Amino acid sequence: MGSGGGGFLLPGILLTVTTLILFKSILDIFDGSYYSNLFGPKRLQLSPLIPALIQSGTEWRFENTSNKIGNCSYFSESTKNLLEINRGYNKVVFRKNDKVVIKKIAFNGPAFMDCMDIADGDLNKEYQCVETAAKSFITEIGFLIKLQNDPNVPKLFAYCIPSDFIAHAELLASATVSGKPLDIIHLATSDWSERVRILDEIIRFLTRSRPLLFRDFRRQQFVLIKNQPSMVDFDDVISTNNLTDHEPIVQKLYISFIDQILFATSPLKAQKPLAAMKEAYSNSTLTFENLSKITKKLRSL
Ligand SMILES: *[C@@H]1O[C@H](CO)[C@@H](O)[C@H](O)[C@H]1NC(C)=O
Ligand SMILES: *[C@@H]1O[C@H](CO)[C@@H](O)[C@H](O)[C@H]1NC(C)=O
Ligand SMILES: *[C@@H]1O[C@H](CO)[C@@H](O)[C@H](O)[C@H]1NC(C)=O
Ligand SMILES: *[C@@H]1O[C@H](CO)[C@@H](O)[C@H](O)[C@H]1NC(C)=O
Ligand SMILES: *[C@@H]1O[C@H](CO)[C@@H](O)[C@H](O)[C@H]1NC(C)=O
Repeated sequence: MGSGGGGFLLPGILLTVTTLILFKSILDIFDGSYYSNLFGPKRLQLSPLIPALIQSGTEWRFENTSNKIGNCSYFSESTKNLLEINRGYNKVVFRKNDKVVIKKIAFNGPAFMDCMDIADGDLNKEYQCVETAAKSFITEIGFLIKLQNDPNVPKLFAYCIPSDFIAHAELLASATVSGKPLDIIHLATSDWSERVRILDEIIRFLTRSRPLLFRDFRRQQFVLIKNQPSMVDFDDVISTNNLTDHEPIVQKLYISFIDQILFATSPLKAQKPLAAMKEAYSNSTLTFENLSKITKKLRSL
């Protein structure tokens, strides 16, 4: 979308989406893909990896979650009054209070804007942009719910999935416990042993989460909650038991958490295992298993 005309920006989203829905529902009478849910079984499985959605009044609930967690009225306060603390590729995060952050779709973020750019005014394609953004946001809530018992996943307080979540994609929201960004500044100013601990916690989390594979693994997906690195973004998660598929994460771990970060101010006794790790990385023989073992060893030094 050009910087000049035709900007698809909030609060224009409501109006535009309404137009899209009118247009799309005419098509759907014949195609029946989405709206069949309104007349058929009120159950929706967005991904086999997450629980199904069950319609409950004007909202969807993930199967077996209480009305306390799935609750749109939790989000009745306008985010206009809330401080925006982070804006990512496809989500925007607001601070509700000291303990709680609220996430929503970033309709003016690059993911959505680029999609709308490519749609270039084609209503059907624009509708698909909203649909994709909405379904991917909901899928992320599903992963949060699935992994709620994991110590490296933030507690989910509430989520809102309106029954017509494409027409009302702006209402989609989740509320989780807040954390501190796990940024390079934090790592650089932490003790060496603290940096190793964080790396070890993340490797254990990745190992424990198998066969789930976080293909979009980045340091920015983690925040520190009570000093625990916690994964807050669940974009692009697949399930695979083929260990070869899990190997590319070694490069990402090395670049995000080891290169420069672990070598700075390392204790003398860590230098030999670190040098071996570096060499294995540069000759491409560093496996996830190796990395996991070396990190465990470094943590016990
Ligand atoms: C939800 O609960 C029902 C009954 O308690 C159980 O049979 C079902 O397997 C549960 N579903 C999930 C996804 O946990
Ligand atoms: C939903 O959230 C609102 C606001 O936080 C609360 O007053 C209400 O009791 C909640 N509903 C349920 C069923 O827990
Ligand atoms: C695992 O994946 C690799 C690369 O994607 C492939 O070459 C290999 O055949 C797969 N192994 C199995 C057991 O499927
Ligand atoms: C790669 O580096 C590791 C660790 O130092 C070493 O054991 C291994 O022999 C090297 N492999 C190759 C092919 O150079
Ligand atoms: C990595 O693991 C393989 C197989 O477990 C082993 O042969 C190799 O020596 C290890 N390399 C390093 C650098 O620890």
